[in-house]
Amino acid sequence: MPLFDNHGRPINYLRLAVTDRCNLRCFYCMPAEGISYVPKKELLSYEEMIRLVRVLAEMGINKVRITGGEPFVRRDLVSFLRKLTDISGIEEVHITTNGVLTTPYVAELKAMGVASVNLSLDTFDRQRFREITRRDEFDRVLNCFHSLLEHDISTKINAVVMEGKNTQDIIPLTELTRQYPVSVRFIEEMPFNGEGSHYPILVWTHRKILEVLKQHYPAIEKIPDSPTSTSYNYQVPGHQGTVGIIAAFSRTFCGTCNRIRLTAQGTLKTCLYDQGVLDIKQIIRKGASDKTVRQTFAQAFRNRAKDGFEAEQQHRQHSVSESMSTIGG
Ligand code: 5AD
Ligand code: SF4
Repeated sequence: MPLFDNHGRPINYLRLAVTDRCNLRCFYCMPAEGISYVPKKELLSYEEMIRLVRVLAEMGINKVRITGGEPFVRRDLVSFLRKLTDISGIEEVHITTNGVLTTPYVAELKAMGVASVNLSLDTFDRQRFREITRRDEFDRVLNCFHSLLEHDISTKINAVVMEGKNTQDIIPLTELTRQYPVSVRFIEEMPFNGEGSHYPILVWTHRKILEVLKQHYPAIEKIPDSPTSTSYNYQVPGHQGTVGIIAAFSRTFCGTCNRIRLTAQGTLKTCLYDQGVLDIKQIIRKGASDKTVRQTFAQAFRNRAKDGFEAEQQHRQHSVSESMSTIGG
């Protein structure tokens, strides 16, 4: 049985960032010069992560998504994943990756039963890819995409929609769903670019993205969303795949939020928009028992903000500029 938070929402889904480092510099996530990375000893070790996931699995977490930074820049990720998929109670392991280093491991991911992979890919144009990510890695990401499909791994593409950068990619990316059984998801841009800068109003809202889709595909149909889905899902009749829109900035999905996050440095976040509600690394490094860890988590779950606006409000006064690479997406 999952635990319920103070707003009656079951918590069964952990997003675990295994590193804050990344081999790309996506402009919506980091400044060009990168962010200052956390020293290695301040990251949770794999052993610590396994222990925390075990405790959380006893508390009802049954789904884990591995994020970063870029997960595959951390050494020995695959052996860690194998241990993770073996934890009793963890039914699904998913991974979010930028695809640059992932291809050689795809067969192993399939073999260990990884449930799905989300590939971050904001454009299908090599030049724009370079402008957005500030690195010339489009070919490797494309190879990863094809490798995932060849290995029959459930695949989603995450594209952040950015004014003046890739709005012309909405249709070409959606076209991928014509022949491939992928889910292409367009994400509203959030203010997590490590510089604290953001437009006061968001131009490319979920509504505007949907308008573009409807204009190009008048027959596009709404399809059912899973109860805790963060995306509104659609399908163009006859297409193999589906299209999703994630209102990450508008925060329309908080009411059904079943997610918690652990950052790479071992901070618990009970909302994407909070700044960390608990330093669990410090607690375990002081020698806390599993029971204490469980009680500490349970207390944090009983104190969740009701939505991303409330969570953001609670730290607005002393706001620092966060990067998605540190938060873990
Ligand atoms: N706004 C919206 N989405 C973002 N991501 C990273 N930074 C941002 C941002 N500022 C998304 C990427 C990636 C996932 C981990 O988070 O698309 O797929
Ligand atoms: Fe790296 Fe992902 Fe951030 Fe891009 S969005 S810089 S791929 S962590």
